[in-house]
Amino acid sequence: MSRLICVVGARPNFMKIAPVIEAIRGQAPNIKIRLVHTGQHYDASMKQQFFEQLAIPEPDIDLEVGSGSHSVQTAEIMKRFEPVLLEWQADAVLVVGDVNSTIACALVAAKNNVPVIHVEAGLRSCDRSMPEEINRILTDQLSDRLYITEREAAQNLEREGICADRVCFVGNVMIDTLRKHLQKAEPVTKTLADAGFGQTVPSEYALLTLHRPSNVDTKEALQSLLETLQQVGRHLPIIFPIHPRTAARIKEFGLSELINNPAIYCLEPVGYLQMLGLMANAKMVLTDSGGIQEETTALGVPCVTLRENTERPITVTQGTNVIVGSDHEKILNAVLDIMETGGRAGRIPELWDGQAALRIAQDLQQWFDRHV
Ligand code: UD1
Repeated sequence: MSRLICVVGARPNFMKIAPVIEAIRGQAPNIKIRLVHTGQHYDASMKQQFFEQLAIPEPDIDLEVGSGSHSVQTAEIMKRFEPVLLEWQADAVLVVGDVNSTIACALVAAKNNVPVIHVEAGLRSCDRSMPEEINRILTDQLSDRLYITEREAAQNLEREGICADRVCFVGNVMIDTLRKHLQKAEPVTKTLADAGFGQTVPSEYALLTLHRPSNVDTKEALQSLLETLQQVGRHLPIIFPIHPRTAARIKEFGLSELINNPAIYCLEPVGYLQMLGLMANAKMVLTDSGGIQEETTALGVPCVTLRENTERPITVTQGTNVIVGSDHEKILNAVLDIMETGGRAGRIPELWDGQAALRIAQDLQQWFDRHV
């Protein structure tokens, strides 16, 4: 029996770990999994509803680290994770994505000579002002087995001196989750009714998500974006589930009036099935999220990315994504273009077929046989 610790911490980790755990349990029963939740995201709206909807097993331990500056949060996760790693005598630690929990636990494992497995390795925005870019580069340097979602990621890793025989192209586990749950997506009418908008459901809408520090952490950037979105609202209603970070900044900067607009439907953060329903039925999605760029490509829904770059270039070269940054004109033009033309059709990238976790489980079994 081999022992594997799987780590989750923040919302975008949950849809990635769910199929991986299920596939390892099904395909590699000799690998015994313990699940650690760092507690980076702790609100029910950011955590519990995802565990329930995605049937993720209850974590064996919750480190309850909570919020803090990036350094404090990362350090606190490390302090709390190390004794757990040692007590459980894990043979390997599996981390997903690029959040602070990912790098913190990878670093603890590497410092204790425990091999690190990274799911969603090799993505690069080449923008080091993005906290996730730092997490991605460092986690990959520490990893012994790296599972990639698109072929270009292998070139990024090669450039950084990571040995090709550690890298394995498996596809995209987040799309496994999307495919599995699409039929169960919550109708938009229900999501809006639950949020108190029963009578006024728009037939067409843009879905908006916003939470990147570069967009929301200064008054200037946030105000400018919200003003642009008010203009978008004149052409197309907007449904806006608001991330806690963004909600806090809107309040702190005194910008609440800018979202107090009948064309903008403001919601609390929604669950996975609600989000899937909102995305699948949207005329377009405006976002600064990484995962949503991929999910819209898989759904064939036009995506307007409110960032200057992306670590997921395949969503642009093959999918439905356009990168517009935060420029007022560029955003409005992209929105109007999609309204007029329907946007880019795109195609589904290679191996985004719902079987990525299965490939990981099969490869991992062999890897454990060789290395543990
Ligand atoms: C984190 C990830 C980001 C991911 C995002 C998805 C890092 C560096 N960033 O950003 O990559 O796209 O999650 O949501 O790891 N808060 C709550 N309740 C919660 C969690 C957070 O109110 O359950 C608030 C707190 O005020 C906190 C703020 O949100 O300070 C930011 O949370 P944090 O975990 O630091 O980063 P995110 O912005 O969520």
